[in-house]
Amino acid sequence: MGGFIKQISRFLHVNCKKFYVDDKGNLFVLFKSNGERVYNPKIKGLKVEFHGHNSIVEIHEPCQFKNCELKMKSNCTIKIEETKYLINNLKTENIMQDNTTVEIGKNFLCCGLTMILADEPNLTVKIGKDCMFARNCVIFPSDSHSIFNENGTLINLGESVVIGNHVWLGLNVSVLKGSIIPDNCVVGYNSVYTKASIKYYKVADTNLGAVFAGAPAKVVKTNINWSKANPCYRVEW
Ligand SMILES: CC(C)(COP(=O)(O)OP(=O)(O)OC[C@H]1O[C@@H](n2cnc3c(N)ncnc32)[C@H](O)[C@@H]1OP(=O)(O)O)[C@@H](O)C(=O)NCCC(=O)NCCS
Repeated sequence: MGGFIKQISRFLHVNCKKFYVDDKGNLFVLFKSNGERVYNPKIKGLKVEFHGHNSIVEIHEPCQFKNCELKMKSNCTIKIEETKYLINNLKTENIMQDNTTVEIGKNFLCCGLTMILADEPNLTVKIGKDCMFARNCVIFPSDSHSIFNENGTLINLGESVVIGNHVWLGLNVSVLKGSIIPDNCVVGYNSVYTKASIKYYKVADTNLGAVFAGAPAKVVKTNINWSKANPCYRVEW
């Protein structure tokens, strides 16, 4: 379904030439809170660079950016939903490879996230709504270089990363290829979350998550939830 919508949206964009930002079919659009669309907007704190063709960057108001830089090759999509929080230091390291996608849900609070999508095409980073990321977080859905087994078979192809709703990444957290982080989870300071981290994840119901910590990150607490409030104030979530 998502793929179908993407195709339709590409068809519409590619067939509405007047909205192109450049002569290569790239599109940068701001969806204003009043329903208007601004093509090729100037957004304080956000720099967008197209290095190929037919890429789409879609930003929704309200939004506030500081020191953010998004660079992409061809047929890439970046969609950032509205947020009441500051998005700080959101970067693509080098230039996103062809056909890569970044989707960020509503109310993202970001102190620093580098997404390394420069090495392999066709990968996606999906971040759900209400997520909070501390400084120096990295999402790395490929390894940049190859590993082969004894038969010469490649064993480390990149895999997309999916982060659920209301996930808190602490300082210096890295999230590697194939990772899925469930809703309402916390990943502790300096942790390295891998696709194996979820192996023993189990909670009593969908309003609850787990604390993952360590390198590789493992479940250290289950049946938790978290809030942005300072713990001194002892509010309920
Ligand atoms: C993840 C975190 C919030 C969990 O706090 P907590 O629920 O009070 O967890 P605890 O301190 O009780 O630790 C539970 C276990 O996980 C381990 N652990 C906790 N954080 C860890 C970490 N970052 N790396 C490795 N192990 C960790 C503890 O050693 C303990 O292990 P044990 O059960 O073997 O004794 C906290 O450890 C943390 O990382 N804080 C930093 C948050 C941050 O980066 N904030 C920045 C602002 S957004």
